[in-house]
Amino acid sequence: MPNPKTFDIPPPDTKRSLEKQGIPEARSPREIEALFHHRSPEGLNRMGREVCETVHGDSVYLRGLIEFTNYCTSNCLYCGIRRENQKVHRYRMDEAQILDTVAQGVKLGFKTFVLQGGEDPKWTVDRICRLVESIKSATQGRAAVTLSCGMKSRRAYQRFSDAGADRYLLRFETSDPELHQRLRDGQTLDHRLAALEGIKAAGFQVGSGFMTGLPGETPQTRLDNILLCQSLGLDMVGIGPFIPHPDTPLAREASRGLALALQGTALLRLALPLAHIPATTAAGSIAENGREQMLLCGANVLMPNITPSLFKKSYLLYPGKICIEENCAQSLAHLEATLPKIGRRLSYERADAIKPPPWGHSRHLPKGGRYG
Ligand code: 5AD
Ligand code: SF4
Repeated sequence: MPNPKTFDIPPPDTKRSLEKQGIPEARSPREIEALFHHRSPEGLNRMGREVCETVHGDSVYLRGLIEFTNYCTSNCLYCGIRRENQKVHRYRMDEAQILDTVAQGVKLGFKTFVLQGGEDPKWTVDRICRLVESIKSATQGRAAVTLSCGMKSRRAYQRFSDAGADRYLLRFETSDPELHQRLRDGQTLDHRLAALEGIKAAGFQVGSGFMTGLPGETPQTRLDNILLCQSLGLDMVGIGPFIPHPDTPLAREASRGLALALQGTALLRLALPLAHIPATTAAGSIAENGREQMLLCGANVLMPNITPSLFKKSYLLYPGKICIEENCAQSLAHLEATLPKIGRRLSYERADAIKPPPWGHSRHLPKGGRYG
C-alpha cells in the first residue's frame, strides 16, 4: 500500500489559523479510513457536498476539453483507443483546427482549455510547445492551458511548462501496483508516479486520479487510491467509473456502476478540500444525471467536450459516451439550465489551483466560493 505522507495536512499552528478562518481542514489518513469503512453512502456524500460548498460556494468551474488526437502507442487493456484496437478510425487534429476550436471556446467564455490526447509520436514535444505558445498568444496569455497527453520525459514536462502550459493531468489509474502493471500492459505504477514527480518539479498545477470498479480492484485498492491522491498533494483529481469497451480485452468484464465513483468523490473532497474535482463524462455516461450526482457529493468542475463533432465520435475510450451529438454552445446552454436545479451555477472563472501555503490568504482562493 502507498505510504501516505502528510503533505497537505498543515502543522498545528497553521491548523489553528485555518480553523479561525473556517477553511475546512483535510481529514487525516486515519479519519479517511474510518469514514471509508463506517459511514453510510448518504452520510459520506453529504459531508463531501458540505465541504465543497464551504470552499467553492455554488460555483462549478468550466474547462473546455479538446480531444486532439486518438493515436496512441500505449495499449492499456481498458481503453478503447489502445494501440491494438484496429477498429478505431484514427484522427489527429492539426494546429489550425485546434486554434480554431480554442477561438470558438473563447467566444463562449471558456478560460481554460484541456488538450487531451493519446500518446501520439507525431505530436512531438516541439510541436506541442509551439501549440501552447500559439494558444497563449491567441488569448493574450489569459487562457489557462492544461495538457493531458500521457507519459513524457522529465525534460519534456519542463519544456511544456517553459512554453507556458499551466496544468498537467496524468491519472495513476489504480494504486495497486500489480493490477496497474497488468491493466497497463506492463507499465509500472512506480514509473507513473515518477512521471507525476517530474510534472510537479516542472512547476505545473498537478492533476491525477483513477478509475473506480476496475476488474481486480478490492476495497483496499479503493481506500489506497484516495490516500495516494492525498499523499501526492494533488491540485486536481479526476475519477470516473470503469466502463467496459467491447473492442478491448476487458469487454466481458462487468461494470460496477456509479456508486463507487460517488464514494470516491466524497472521500477525495474530505482528503483534499481545496482540490478541483471534475464531475466526469464517464459518470454521466453510465448513469442518468451521473455528473450532477458527482457534483452533489463533492465535485466542483465540469469539462464540456468542445472537440469538433467530426472527431469527437472517434475518441471513444469507453462506449456510450454522452454529448457526442451536442455542439459546444448547446452543451453550455444545457448546463446553464440544469445546474440551478441542484443549487449550483456555472462559473466562467479561470479557477487556478488553490495553493494552501501561505495558508489563510483569501486572495489565493477563487471568487464565487465562501472566500470570493
Ligand atoms: N472506462 C472509463 N474510463 C476510461 N479511461 C480509459 N478507458 C476507460 C474506460 N474503459 C480513462 C482513464 C484515462 C482517462 C483519459 O480515461 O482513466 O486516464
Ligand atoms: Fe493510450 Fe491513455 Fe488509452 Fe492508455 S488510457 S491506451 S495511454 S489513450
